Amino acid sequence: MQNLNIYILAIESSCDDTSCAVLHNNRVLSNVTANQKIHEQYGGVVPELASRDHQKNIVPVVEAALKNAGIAMNQLNAIAVTRGPGLMGSLLVGLSFAKSLSLALSIPIIEVNHMKGHILAHFIDDGEVQKTPEFPFLCLTASGGHTQLIKVTGYLDFEMVGETIDDAVGEAFDKAAKIMGIPYPGGPLIDKYAGSGDKSKFTFAYTRAPGYNYSFSGIKTSFLYFIQNHVQKDKNFVADNLCDICASYQDHLIKVLLKNVRHVLKDTGMNQLAIAGGVSANSELRRQVKALEHELGIETFIPKFEYCTDNAAMIGITAYYKFLNNEFADLSITPMARMPI
Ligand code: KG4
Ligand code: ZN
Repeated sequence: MQNLNIYILAIESSCDDTSCAVLHNNRVLSNVTANQKIHEQYGGVVPELASRDHQKNIVPVVEAALKNAGIAMNQLNAIAVTRGPGLMGSLLVGLSFAKSLSLALSIPIIEVNHMKGHILAHFIDDGEVQKTPEFPFLCLTASGGHTQLIKVTGYLDFEMVGETIDDAVGEAFDKAAKIMGIPYPGGPLIDKYAGSGDKSKFTFAYTRAPGYNYSFSGIKTSFLYFIQNHVQKDKNFVADNLCDICASYQDHLIKVLLKNVRHVLKDTGMNQLAIAGGVSANSELRRQVKALEHELGIETFIPKFEYCTDNAAMIGITAYYKFLNNEFADLSITPMARMPI
């Protein structure tokens, strides 16, 4: 018999966002995230600075999440926390905090894989009616650290179909932005500038990877050479063509992402596609994924913006299904910088 009155406090600190959510069963009551601005000037996340900021932010973020949810600590049934994958120092802050809270409140701890969290964000109930995928479905999870094609056969059953063999697509966005002098994280800004650009203006190289895998490292390098070549001839090239460059490069990355998606859907006969992870916030990706409904006769599932990028609600929903399955962690667990799905 399932316990249908579960309160979970979830903590996410795998990269540069400190987030805490409170859930009642699968319903999110609060989801508070502190973003770290400090990395903007460095063109990427500086691990040492990220863990320091988590240390500063975690107590106020947890307090705010409990306050917004109107829940007291003694009402909680479990603490959920991201164990990996992510930055070691960042994960350590969240995990140590979660362990202390679990000990202090004498309630169990539930460890969550960050990438599973991104996928299960599709099952978060935030009070608004929203269609959810049925099993099995294909999920394209695209973030700053990962690019994966996952066959999801149950809330806790995942099968890797393809993944990047080098860089993640989010990194291909962020590095291109850095090359053009756009601050970190560049993905959202490339998305913004692309909105006023011509996506057919420039073309970029395609790279090959075996099976349904991806490779973005060559695309990133070809972008660097493309910019260097043009700037040699015209030092104002980037400024004069920013929107067209962003639109063309973004469209190229999306075409690469969706090429394998089409193959997998055709080859497996799966007829539902979900997207997840930070890059699923990209407006052009969302548009092109939606267009696949008509093109392939499939159903697509696109998360709300707030559940695309890192957040603790996705950790909480994953923990809820683990709670129902009696999957609790031992207090001796340590963070995992790499963690298979
Ligand atoms: O999932 P996420 O918040 O953190 C990781 O787990 O990595 O993803 C962050 C990534 C960054 O690379 C960021 O540039 C990218 O998601 N991103 C976007 C957009 N919003 C976030 N990329 C393209 N377009 C966006 N609108
Ligand atoms: Zn993430």
